[in-house]
Amino acid sequence: MEVVNGIADVVAANGTEHKDSRESELKAFDETKAGVKGLVDAGINHVPRIFSRPTDDLQDSVSSSKEGQFKFPIIDIDGMDKDHVRRQIVDQVRDASETWGFFQVVNHGIPETVMNEMLEGVRKFYEQDTEVKKMWYTRNNLTRFLYNSNFDLFSAPVANWRDTFYCTMAPAAPSPEELPEACRDVLVNYSEHVMKLGRSLFEILSEALGLDRNHLKDIDCADGLATLGHYYPACPEPERAIGTSKHADNDFITVLMQDHIGGLQVLHQNHWVNVPPVPGALVINIGDFMQIISNDKFISAEHRVLASQIGPRISVACFFTTGVFASSKIYEPIKELLSEENPPKYRAFTVKEFLDLFFAKGLDGNSALLHFKK
Ligand code: OGA
Ligand code: NI
Repeated sequence: MEVVNGIADVVAANGTEHKDSRESELKAFDETKAGVKGLVDAGINHVPRIFSRPTDDLQDSVSSSKEGQFKFPIIDIDGMDKDHVRRQIVDQVRDASETWGFFQVVNHGIPETVMNEMLEGVRKFYEQDTEVKKMWYTRNNLTRFLYNSNFDLFSAPVANWRDTFYCTMAPAAPSPEELPEACRDVLVNYSEHVMKLGRSLFEILSEALGLDRNHLKDIDCADGLATLGHYYPACPEPERAIGTSKHADNDFITVLMQDHIGGLQVLHQNHWVNVPPVPGALVINIGDFMQIISNDKFISAEHRVLASQIGPRISVACFFTTGVFASSKIYEPIKELLSEENPPKYRAFTVKEFLDLFFAKGLDGNSALLHFKK
């Protein structure tokens, strides 16, 4: 605790404005291994400079949507196995994936108890003894389970008010001792449920693209899963910080569970639209890989999370991707979707190539997709 307190003072100090001091503040913060939660526990009541949003971002040219201006899509996926119901679900998923790149699903089959236990597991991980938690703190991406604050701490322009763990769940399943006890069982159980839901969603998405039901599964979109547990501590000056900077996801799709606090926003028709917390619902969003292979039919929408005075906010993001353990498998716009009028808009890529670029640039506000445009 003493160390954390000391560092909180260093990070909080209103030092002179040089790059060197930013660099050393980032390093001091990283070395605490206690994350943003550590700062809050130490009683910080100002947002340290490394987290300070640039003023041009605060005077965002993009307007917030007015209450009720847009209707965020919510899709009931119960009855998928009945033909006439399925057709409606496929239509709704197609429409949402083309226009929003985001939707929520209800009646998805994952029991609420499993969902709540997962959120609780994330809380337990972060709220356990800091000394035990620190043992998991690393920036080595090749670790099965890694915890840190800001994967892009040293490359992004602004640090986010958030701590995160990242765990590769599939294709190679973890052995129990690779996972922290605080959330071991729920992590395995919840991720299995998400994998199952994912396979159904990839079938629906295949049909929504006009492809054979198994197409996306056959090209291995459903095989890899990374489960991320985010912890957004209460922020003393929420308007000066950001929970997660604007970004799009580097995966095929994401299955996101957020708690009741809110703060997630999606960029839709040049407006920031709130993704409302709906009890029992899961948020599904199209990632960059899906936008590429669908040749822009489905969109990988940018989104962000606001910081809040209320917290901690907890969310669990399941990324369908082979991630850092990616094979050399090549992805490119799906041939069946292309024609003379619809030539490929992207070049072929490997997941590893995409991730190398994504990690190097961090959440800098720019789309990684542009690097793969033809
Ligand atoms: C993400 C993400 C949103 C949230 O993990 O990519 O956008 O609500 N998370 O935490
Ligand atoms: Ni995201």
